[in-house]
Amino acid sequence: MISPVRWDGSRLMLLDQTRLPVEEVEKPCSSWQEVADAIRALVVRGAPAIGVAAAFGVALAARQSRAGDWEGFLADLEEAIKGLGATRPTAVNLFWALERMRRMALANWHLAHGELGQRLLDEAQAVLDEDVAANRAMGAFGAPLVPAGARILTHCNAGALATAGYGTAGGVIRAAHERGKVALVWVNETRPVMQGSRLTAWEMVREGIPHRLISDVAAAFVMKRGEVDLVVTGADRIAVNGDTANKIGTYGVAVLARHHGIPFYVAAPFSTIDPAIATGASIVIEERDAAEVRGVGERQTAPATSPVFNPAFDVTPAGLISAIITERGVFRFPYDFS
Ligand code: MRU
Repeated sequence: MISPVRWDGSRLMLLDQTRLPVEEVEKPCSSWQEVADAIRALVVRGAPAIGVAAAFGVALAARQSRAGDWEGFLADLEEAIKGLGATRPTAVNLFWALERMRRMALANWHLAHGELGQRLLDEAQAVLDEDVAANRAMGAFGAPLVPAGARILTHCNAGALATAGYGTAGGVIRAAHERGKVALVWVNETRPVMQGSRLTAWEMVREGIPHRLISDVAAAFVMKRGEVDLVVTGADRIAVNGDTANKIGTYGVAVLARHHGIPFYVAAPFSTIDPAIATGASIVIEERDAAEVRGVGERQTAPATSPVFNPAFDVTPAGLISAIITERGVFRFPYDFS
């Protein structure tokens, strides 16, 4: 199994996603600051994987703390939680995982630091293990939605790399492939950071899943030719009414799918649902560096002075989503995750 995030006994090891598909190297993190830098730089990315990495970041902060009392220890943890929470604003799994770690610390304040540190490490490992289990459950719930001989289109990377392993949308594709149902996966390259071509295509090659890479602008044409049976994507944050934030371009794919009468599915764990947000209008959308749009990788493809708008995510209205596949089952419109 592809393991993008793992604990090696003393350090957090992250499969460096900025180096894929060319090199497979792990980046070791020994401090919460290194984990925060890795999240910011997309060494680890994808909503669930960010949450898992952040949970280990808090466990690292506990190991780093030299505080002599509980108040000092808690202050060190809070500093780490704040720092990790400031890395990326859209994926709610990050804040969900940090809150879970905070609650674990507060519930065990009476323990000696060493023991509490171990509890936090165990909790981070539980976040990781539960994520893999949730993904497998999503795969099992999602596979029946995939018809035999399916041609599936996906956007961005919501595979093993974006999670603790197996994947959300990628998990549904894997589960359907394991049942012999997948004829082809259309992989949108996913401008501007190319998570589709760099990461999803890499996973497809590794797993031997038949696929074809297309530029994002080819998706409409492929649908028009009748060569897509369903779309499945991941999510970064789902509002109570089912509005879903995901990688920029997802909304356009959903509109195209509706126009062509193609089911559009979202696969995500419950940790991606934000019960505090009624609709997608309240979701904070991360804006990233202009260089991502002014170039492809290292190569400049636009004037250095051209003004840029670079939202990393968009919001697909719930009405365009045929079903949301979770580890607790398949939900259909109208959604109510209150
Ligand atoms: O900017 P990224 O690469 O972190 O964006 C990732 C996505 O949009 C994924 O589709 C989403 O996090 C779901 S991952 C299971």
